[in-house]
Amino acid sequence: MFMRLALAATASMALTSFAHAAEISISCGAVGQELSLCKSGAEAWAKKTGNTVKIVSTPNDTNERLALYQQQLSASSSEIDVFQIDVIWPGILGQHFVNLSPYTKGAEKEHFPAIIVNNTVNGELVAMPWFTDAGVLYYRKDLLDKYGLKPPATWQEMTDEATKIQDGERKAGNDKFWGVVFQGRAYEGLTCDALEWIDSFGGGTIIDAEGNITVNNPKAAAALTLAAGWIGKIAPEGVLNYGEEEARGVFQSGNAAFMRNWPYAWSLGNGADSPVKDKIGVVALPKGGEGGKNTGTLGGWQLAVSKYSKNTDLAADLVVYLTSKDEQKRRAIEGSYNPTITALYDDPDVLKAVPFFGDLKATFMNAVARPSRVTGANYNEVSTNFWNAVSNVLSGKEKAEDALTTLDSNLAGIKGSGW
Ligand code: GLC
Repeated sequence: MFMRLALAATASMALTSFAHAAEISISCGAVGQELSLCKSGAEAWAKKTGNTVKIVSTPNDTNERLALYQQQLSASSSEIDVFQIDVIWPGILGQHFVNLSPYTKGAEKEHFPAIIVNNTVNGELVAMPWFTDAGVLYYRKDLLDKYGLKPPATWQEMTDEATKIQDGERKAGNDKFWGVVFQGRAYEGLTCDALEWIDSFGGGTIIDAEGNITVNNPKAAAALTLAAGWIGKIAPEGVLNYGEEEARGVFQSGNAAFMRNWPYAWSLGNGADSPVKDKIGVVALPKGGEGGKNTGTLGGWQLAVSKYSKNTDLAADLVVYLTSKDEQKRRAIEGSYNPTITALYDDPDVLKAVPFFGDLKATFMNAVARPSRVTGANYNEVSTNFWNAVSNVLSGKEKAEDALTTLDSNLAGIKGSGW
């Protein structure tokens, strides 16, 4: 009798979970360890809830991802339930996502308030923060010691130190050695790097919070002129085609003194098979000079649920799980992805794995936003014009002053159609 009852119970439980079980598809980035950590997190949720997950990988360049998402969403496709979206996209894509507030049970209160504001469009929470970012400067501790140098306080100092180390290492026989690597390809990553140079010189943030175009100014021109002087001298010509991963490849193989990158490069650089394991330091990006400041561009990724999903409730449950404190802690420790939950910056396990999360707390809290909120749906066009102008300066096609004058009038044209 007892046996029969037990069997009946198991069968009905299995039936119940079968009736509700679904496959939820999630689009994840694939830069560094993004894909593997997304997969392990989503699979843990699937196991816990009796559902299955499908992981959809996306291109590394964020603007290419945007184009793909825009295709999917404008066709109202139900193929992807959960979208990993860039911090600059709520204004561009927000209309396609469900309001997550009814699902979060107030969890958003634990996250950085500025990111919650960023992810709120017309009063709706269109995405939950997953990880945040700010640009930082990686340097080779061993080489700075060898040449009797300290981490640079200004970009000019970085230029001088990079020159000195590069000369020394080349004389010592490494003809592949370079002073500095960064994101120089004409894409969104270059917008981030160039915003850092310009704002650190006191040249502003391209467009200010009121929507005024500010980029055509002498400080911005000085910043871009300095950076253009690096190409072929302390940075390889090839940097004009580098994204995050290409820069990391050169630095991690031991062939660069400095690298501008996001925090994810820390874990991989200190991985068991990394030639620079335990030889890396991380500081805030240098100032432009006297009167300048340390600027790191605010980056980061959110999770959003498509309005066209056939399983919005389950998809929202997956988002709540992946953005939770436990999961953000795991991702911080295993992959040095910055949590968006404030309390994790005081967590001893997190700080042991990534000490600079504590040392550079101010850099993360004061990271400078790209003008995506004020330009809304026009942001990608604004950024495309900006990175093309910067690219022309870096490649020597145009002088900084000329490129900024053209940019100024192109941006005015976009503004004319409204932001
Ligand atoms: C990182 C940042 C993202 C930025 C991108 C640019 O992924 O998190 O915000 O747009 O880099 O390459």
